Amino acid sequence: MITRKKLSIIGAGNVGASAAHWAVNRGIADVAMIDVVEGVPQGKALDLMQSGPIDGFSVSLVGSNDFRDTADSDVVIIMAGLARKPGMGRKDLLSKNVAIVKSCTREVVKYSPECVLIVVTNPIDAMVYTAFKVSGFPRNRVIGMAGVLDSARYRTFLAQALGVAARDVSAMVMGIHGLKMLPLVRLANVAGVPVSDLLSEQELSEIVERTQYGGIEIVNHLKTGSAYFTPGLSAVEMAEAILTDSKRVLPCAAFLEGEFGISGCFLGVPAVLGAGGVERILEFELTQDEKAALLESEKVVREQMEATGL
Ligand code: LAC
Repeated sequence: MITRKKLSIIGAGNVGASAAHWAVNRGIADVAMIDVVEGVPQGKALDLMQSGPIDGFSVSLVGSNDFRDTADSDVVIIMAGLARKPGMGRKDLLSKNVAIVKSCTREVVKYSPECVLIVVTNPIDAMVYTAFKVSGFPRNRVIGMAGVLDSARYRTFLAQALGVAARDVSAMVMGIHGLKMLPLVRLANVAGVPVSDLLSEQELSEIVERTQYGGIEIVNHLKTGSAYFTPGLSAVEMAEAILTDSKRVLPCAAFLEGEFGISGCFLGVPAVLGAGGVERILEFELTQDEKAALLESEKVVREQMEATGL
């Protein structure tokens, strides 16, 4: 008998519902969506399940307020927490979301002690550290989602400037999920052609800055919340790589133990994702400027870690 893999999504707000949508549409696993608000996960899951006959997926989806429904998950995505409002930095969210992520992590670990945890709640770099500490899981099984989203934004802006298909743009954002993130220009390319040969320095620096402000740009439009379609898909992209043991290389917030000369801190780095979670970090030589930028990211992440009180 073939048993399907199981994915749990903690949080049934906009990001959680979006992730559930992408996950069932791709058919990557049976999905459980959990939220504290009575009726919301149930209603959204039922609505989404009813798209099955049209969309053609055959995985199952349940919405619940009970963590018991997450039992024996292979991957759990934690996205519960408050979202950013205009004028609210990722840091302002920290103390409120630490409490939420702590309690969700404890519940998740109780029912799925062998799962891989993906953390999406903001500020991501501090929340993934919170889940890492509270779960007691090895570092390969606790991963933050930021680089896939930030890199997708970067690739989108590069593709628009180049007038090419976005999927042919290969580009990566490392470091923190915040203004000090590091969109790598040197290695960005379109089908192997360096973007620095195709765009001016001025164009590239505008794209880098727009990427760094990518989340805020959307918050300013929406006014009452933050982005959710691409954050949801980015987490599902990581979950799918783990559930299918595909060894995809995706930029993720991983706990560094000496990689890039940094230890004891989560930072966005290129990682090989497979059944074991982060199976390997692809370490490479950074230029002096890139290294300095990564250390700037590290500084802010460490301040956030400190603020968690863990
Ligand atoms: C973003 C917020 C959610 O980047 O951090 O969209």
